[in-house]
Amino acid sequence: MKVLVTGGSGLLGAHLLVGLQGRRYDVVGTDRNPWWGDVPVDFRVGDLSDPEFLKSLIRSVRPELLIHCAALVDVEACERRPEEASRINGKLPGFLAGAAGDRCRVVFLSTDSVFSGEKAFSSEEDLPSPRNAYASSKREGEEQVQRRAPHCLILRTNFYGWSSGRKKTSAEWMVRSLQTQQPMTLFEDLFFTPIYVPDLVEGLIRLLECQVEGIFHLGGRDRVSKYQFGQLLAEELGVSMDRVQRGSVERAGFAAERPRDISLNSQRYCEITGADLPGCREGIRRFAADGSKPLSQRFQCPVLR
Ligand SMILES: NC(=O)c1ccc[n+]([C@@H]2O[C@H](COP(=O)([O-])OP(=O)(O)OC[C@H]3O[C@@H](n4cnc5c(N)ncnc54)[C@H](OP(=O)(O)O)[C@@H]3O)[C@@H](O)[C@H]2O)c1
Repeated sequence: MKVLVTGGSGLLGAHLLVGLQGRRYDVVGTDRNPWWGDVPVDFRVGDLSDPEFLKSLIRSVRPELLIHCAALVDVEACERRPEEASRINGKLPGFLAGAAGDRCRVVFLSTDSVFSGEKAFSSEEDLPSPRNAYASSKREGEEQVQRRAPHCLILRTNFYGWSSGRKKTSAEWMVRSLQTQQPMTLFEDLFFTPIYVPDLVEGLIRLLECQVEGIFHLGGRDRVSKYQFGQLLAEELGVSMDRVQRGSVERAGFAAERPRDISLNSQRYCEITGADLPGCREGIRRFAADGSKPLSQRFQCPVLR
């Protein structure tokens, strides 16, 4: 199956390209930044907001499956430029889904942040209530894709992993601060259900193979605060938490409001695929061990070899 992955140079997109290629999917990646993985991939560099690039990409790849990961993910930048967030995260996904055509299955990567953050373990039945421009733009993206591709799969998640290094992820930043014992503040009042990115890729491949459509949540099994996440990471790295302060998101002074509890209930995924969710310590253990491994060696699921 011919698969086009957008945001292919990003954290999730790059892992998806390698994970899918390992399962013998015929993959093409695209991003406005270059490919950086350790295995060759058919990769097209360009900006999806350029209609000419987008049309010629779809014409030449003719994808049977489109996995749309490209987005503006900087929550504070989205708050400063809500129109741009809406254009790239909201309208562009619908346009892309429309351009891909009726015979193409569409997967849209969405976020746990679409919820208000007032309830633990939100399920697919809970109503979104975005609290900042990033979350509103991703919710708009969900609606636009559903309108243009009614049989699409919308995946809401929250993940961490090793990026290209061009833009350090918050987990990479935590590792660096813990290892060098730099002072760091982690929020005790912000809860989530993080999943290690290779586990997310394996989970998404399982969902694809079950031919599902609609909204699915896919996070880790455990709901933890950012502080607890840091504690587990410090334990796995064998370093001290002495320089880590307990903080509150309330006092962080962000322009964009942060929902306090964006933990996801991923039971629907478990019921459909028969798979378990990875625990937080388990994921962090692999993350800590994978730091020095090339991208292609971070997958453990035997079916991916
Ligand atoms: N990370 C998380 O925990 C998380 C949680 C929930 C949902 N998500 C969603 O998951 C998806 C992937 O996230 P990620 O963390 O892998 O993000 P990422 O590392 O920033 O990857 C996204 C990639 O898309 C590129 N891109 C953005 N706009 C583009 C455009 N107009 N044309 C071409 N490329 C463009 C970005 O380039 P630039 O870097 O130059 O912008 C980046 O390389 C996103 O849709 C995000 O909303 C992420």
